Amino acid sequence: MDRVLLIDDEADVQYSFRRIFDSPEIEVSTANSGEEGISLVPRVKPDLVIMDIRMGGISGLETLRRLRDSYPKLLVIMMTAYGTTQTAIEAMKLGAYDYLLKPFDVPRLKEIVTNALKAARDMKQVVSYQPLLESEDYDVGIVGRAEAMQNVFKLIGQVSSSDATALITGESGTGKELVARAIYHHSRRAEQPFLAINCAAIPEQLLESELFGHERGAFTGANVQRIGKFEQCNHGTIFLDEIGDMPLGPQTKILRVLQNGTFERVGGNQSIKVDVRVIAATNKPLEQAVANKTFREDLFYRLNVVRIELPALRNRPEDIPLLVNYFLKKYAQRQKQRPKSVSPDVLAALEHYHWPGNVRELENVVQRALVVAKGDAILSGDLPPEIIGRKLSSANANRALTSAAAASTEDLPDLARALFHWARRDPKVKIIPAVERELVVEALKETKGNQVQAAKLLGITRATLRKRVEKFGIKQELEVK
Ligand SMILES: Nc1ncnc2c1ncn2[C@@H]1O[C@H](COP(=O)(O)OP(=O)(O)OP(=O)(O)O)[C@@H](O)[C@H]1O
Ligand SMILES: [Mg+2]
Repeated sequence: MDRVLLIDDEADVQYSFRRIFDSPEIEVSTANSGEEGISLVPRVKPDLVIMDIRMGGISGLETLRRLRDSYPKLLVIMMTAYGTTQTAIEAMKLGAYDYLLKPFDVPRLKEIVTNALKAARDMKQVVSYQPLLESEDYDVGIVGRAEAMQNVFKLIGQVSSSDATALITGESGTGKELVARAIYHHSRRAEQPFLAINCAAIPEQLLESELFGHERGAFTGANVQRIGKFEQCNHGTIFLDEIGDMPLGPQTKILRVLQNGTFERVGGNQSIKVDVRVIAATNKPLEQAVANKTFREDLFYRLNVVRIELPALRNRPEDIPLLVNYFLKKYAQRQKQRPKSVSPDVLAALEHYHWPGNVRELENVVQRALVVAKGDAILSGDLPPEIIGRKLSSANANRALTSAAAASTEDLPDLARALFHWARRDPKVKIIPAVERELVVEALKETKGNQVQAAKLLGITRATLRKRVEKFGIKQELEVK
């Protein structure tokens, strides 16, 4: 559950906040003044503080200053009425996360709060990268025993103890963000803020101002000054996600920040000095982008000092059982239930799949399977068709089906589900006639065309068998062979 502390001396603001946010996921506490707010923090342990700038007693700005001194990682959103925007901008320089204009636009308020709570979780949940112990809290960890992962862990350890820029590369869903957070949590900046910026999600013309801020009048629509993430995150860690999608303009500024820690706000000429550690990630081949001149070569070399390359999941299938187990435990813990198990054929299917979406895809598959699984175990019918389908269409599909069906009637549901996957993939398939025909053909093959023995094998009368043979036109086929 996320905890929000609202500091505002107006009763109706407190009331509407509770109405908007109080829920099983968010607990809202309130304070009537800056002093009270500060005294409540150790008890409430808020993930986010939302505070009015203008209050009786000490001002919002002074409260912010004191909060930042004692709790540098605490996220604070300031609220301001029209006409006091400049104060809100001062608050941003002091490290406020964002500010809101009164009266609120509720959807915008919700969006800011959601983003802030996500950022707070990123800072709070320690990402462990040591082999996980049974007893450990299964909240966030980087799971993997494959050699390539051992190398990753070694690099995380090394780069955490330095202040070096790190570049994390790997396909989508391989855990780049997780690694960035692990580095942060184990670095000497762990007690300072961590802010993530997705360079691909922000329109080109806004990215530079998001990162470095802008001066009033810097461009059309820049009605007020803006403080960028680098300034806001001073002493902390900035995670530049999808840096391969960053346009050339901001690249130049990033290079300078990395070289000497200075930049100017967009449209400004005052040089600002910051002390920020940069971690970057991308799933794009940067070498290629350098060759295409869409990525600055000097910036690439500057970022590439420590390179952590995450392996694709298909290249470390030995980690799949480990990951499956981890996700089973994680979701069981979240639902406060006993972890479910997976049947051996499910595990085999998961190990054979090629996982284009890597660990994220595996996690989604496990999560979805847990929702549809009826009993204590995940069965093949609980997996999406593309995963089980791949295994069935492979060379050992027949063997898998035969062995599943041979054991006992208990295996029949598995067999049926496997067939349903087939039917889902190919809408032309009519399962019952297809299975019936196949059983008759195989029985006749097994018995070398002896109808008495074939009927016995199938558990039907000879007359029924003959009808089926006629209906499906089987005799002809057998004679041809
Ligand atoms: N080794 C791992 N152990 C446990 N969970 C993992 C591991 N790798 C990835 N995950 C989980 O998979 C999901 C995707 O990971 P993450 O967001 O770090 O990937 P990414 O490489 O940043 O992907 P993208 O390129 O799409 O942004 C997350 O939920 C993460 O917790
Ligand atoms: Mg990512």
